[in-house]
Amino acid sequence: MRTLIKGGTVLSATGASAADVLVEDEKVAAVAAPGVFETADEVLDASGKYVLPGGIDAHTHMEMPFGGTHSVDTFTTGTEAAAWGGTTTIIDFAVQSKGTTLTATLDKWHEKADGNCAIDYGFHMIVSDVNDTTLKDMETCVDAGVSSFKMFMAYPGVFYSTDGEILRAMQKATETGSTIMMHAENGIAIDELVAQALASGRTGPVEHGLTRPSILEGEATARAIALAKVTGAPLYIVHLSAAEALAAVAAARTEGQNVFAETCPQYLYLSIEDLARPDFEGAKYVASPPLREKRHQADLWRGLRTNNLSVVSTDHCPFCFKDQKELGRGDFSRIPNGMPGVEHRMDLLHQGVVAGEISLARWVEACSTTPARMFGLYPRKGVIAPGSDADIVIYDPAARQTLSAETHHMNVDYSAYEGFEITGKVETVLSRGKVVVSPSGFGGGRGHGKFLARDLCQYLS
Ligand code: URP
Ligand code: ZN
Ligand code: ZN
Ligand code: ZN
Repeated sequence: MRTLIKGGTVLSATGASAADVLVEDEKVAAVAAPGVFETADEVLDASGKYVLPGGIDAHTHMEMPFGGTHSVDTFTTGTEAAAWGGTTTIIDFAVQSKGTTLTATLDKWHEKADGNCAIDYGFHMIVSDVNDTTLKDMETCVDAGVSSFKMFMAYPGVFYSTDGEILRAMQKATETGSTIMMHAENGIAIDELVAQALASGRTGPVEHGLTRPSILEGEATARAIALAKVTGAPLYIVHLSAAEALAAVAAARTEGQNVFAETCPQYLYLSIEDLARPDFEGAKYVASPPLREKRHQADLWRGLRTNNLSVVSTDHCPFCFKDQKELGRGDFSRIPNGMPGVEHRMDLLHQGVVAGEISLARWVEACSTTPARMFGLYPRKGVIAPGSDADIVIYDPAARQTLSAETHHMNVDYSAYEGFEITGKVETVLSRGKVVVSPSGFGGGRGHGKFLARDLCQYLS
């Protein structure tokens, strides 16, 4: 089966050029000057459109257990929504709960995902119980294609690890060539502020933001960087939201340390003003780290331009407003933490291109090429080149759309971006050569997506 994508502008992390792309079965066969290939079994006209490597969302939580409930997108609904938005790979987090092993956790996440995904997927491992077995099992995970481990400096009593536990896991990461991903917020201090707010009757959603000040993200980020320096471990700061944290990352990178960071669209476009929406609507915007004051946004865009922020992921972790966010009415600390977003990352970051905040090449790099390199998937993913998987998006940069829960495909009853007007829209999506999204609708389905056993990370500076 040969598919020809004709007449488009092919994008990469280094630029754009007029080219045609020939796909043979699941792979890119060739990229050539317009008109070199005359025909194929199927021809897709990309005139006036961008042709870019499928998005890689390196931070999602499908069916994630949290506080007695779980995030509402399944691996099927979540990966279908991702595909609609031009994302063709997700890396989701398997969650070790205390008292279980990493290997049993990995088995459990394979049971949830295998045969159910519409696009390709990999796993990171959340480590929440550091002991000799866990450390040994990190080796098994790396061998099984799970080469990155997330740890938490937040959520005492749940996912939290002490500095000593983090140090031990980092030593193992150094030994195995794997990466430590860090949720960097000072959870011990935050829990005190939360208790004080509740005791004084401050219970609404905005308190979630006020009790998690950005300086405590900056402090934890700097501490994680120090622990990584002592152990030699590569460090990837997840969902960075604060100027103070970015400054710590930038300083470490200037010194040449292997420190990287991602941010998420919600920190670029939303703010603590959304958390302060009346009538409990702010609960829709509760995630950790919290949405910040708007002053942080300019710093984050600058971080994206200068590569101190290397990746944009979504931290997609949807909970319904009606029956789940509701659990925290009268006590903000019980609002399930997380926001939906897997469908709209490519569109939202394209607004950064439209606004002149980032270049087209940077859009592709932060949303596809760098996550592929960072997480051991390159050049199979993240680039349109001979031999790569034919994960390809045809994007209409001139189309207009309005984001809404009425039209999105995520299995959640609200949109964090309700009413946002977007310039640009996904037209067609190929996942390993199969057209899964086209102007005539969804052509993919559960089971098409395959597990990606990832290599070790390829660090970029
Ligand atoms: O609030 C969030 N971000 N929920 C998902 C879990 C995490 O910490 O990434
Ligand atoms: Zn986190
Ligand atoms: Zn997350
Ligand atoms: Zn629901």
